[in-house]
Amino acid sequence: MFTNEKKIFVKNLQEGDITTKFQIYEKCIRQDKNGNNYIELKLGDRTGKTTARLFFEQAHVQRTFESISKGDVVKLEGQYSESYNSILVNNPAKISKCSPNEYRLGEFRCVCDKNLEDLLGEIKTTIEAMKNAHLKRLLEEMFNDQAFIDRFKEAPSAMSRHHNYGGGNLEHTVGVLRLCKNISEFYDVDQDLLFVGAILHDVGKIQTYTFEETLPTRTNEEKMISHIIIGDRMIHDIIKEKFQDFPGELKNQLSHLILSHHGKHEWGSPIPPETPEAIVLHHADLLDSQVKNSLQRKL
Ligand SMILES: [Fe+2]
Ligand SMILES: [Fe+2]
Repeated sequence: MFTNEKKIFVKNLQEGDITTKFQIYEKCIRQDKNGNNYIELKLGDRTGKTTARLFFEQAHVQRTFESISKGDVVKLEGQYSESYNSILVNNPAKISKCSPNEYRLGEFRCVCDKNLEDLLGEIKTTIEAMKNAHLKRLLEEMFNDQAFIDRFKEAPSAMSRHHNYGGGNLEHTVGVLRLCKNISEFYDVDQDLLFVGAILHDVGKIQTYTFEETLPTRTNEEKMISHIIIGDRMIHDIIKEKFQDFPGELKNQLSHLILSHHGKHEWGSPIPPETPEAIVLHHADLLDSQVKNSLQRKL
């Protein structure tokens, strides 16, 4: 059981003998200079990544390789080399797959270190203060739906770049919303429209990013359609089903915000931002994602 064991995290690895648990991100079989097969694993935890090289008698290589999978948490014993950032394991008995009751998920899956309820509260306060009844009703419809909220709170924002952890998309959304609120003090923009754009700009990610075991993954919808298009469709479906009196021009303005928020075609947006609100949203989104990406790389 996990309760009495102190886990050694990637960030605390030191040269020498080590026994700990890591999650497998990738596995492959390689050959050494003598033509013998060995297993190479990319693995890690919420603090970072490392590798492991498993040199066994050839009869054990394939068997061990098939017994472990991407996403598994494994216990391993070996020697860590700081210069190679790699753990050498030389006995098949020194690596074993853990069952879920043998580890704490939070040690492996990165989760947002902010209070998600507080972040959600900022969105709800923003909705309450809205004057545009159509936009307010749209957001109330979404944020009064507990199933929607659960998915919105859980979603990561990416697989490996900024906010790539549980709650990351909520943290990013509030980051963009705060920037938009500040920037809107300097320009004559439609604040309600801009804030709805900020709150919903990445809403498609609740369908297009998920967790496979403990790893953030892109669904086929993200690969083939993208969160931008999915998000736009989600909003239009709700408007079509619930709010037939929603003004067509307002719907277009909102669509424009969602579709253009990545700024350029080569960055995933089918159209560039043209309206003042869309230009502000794009830059707020870019700023929040790039700054966070840089901060995460520093960790
Ligand atoms: Fe996006
Ligand atoms: Fe975004």
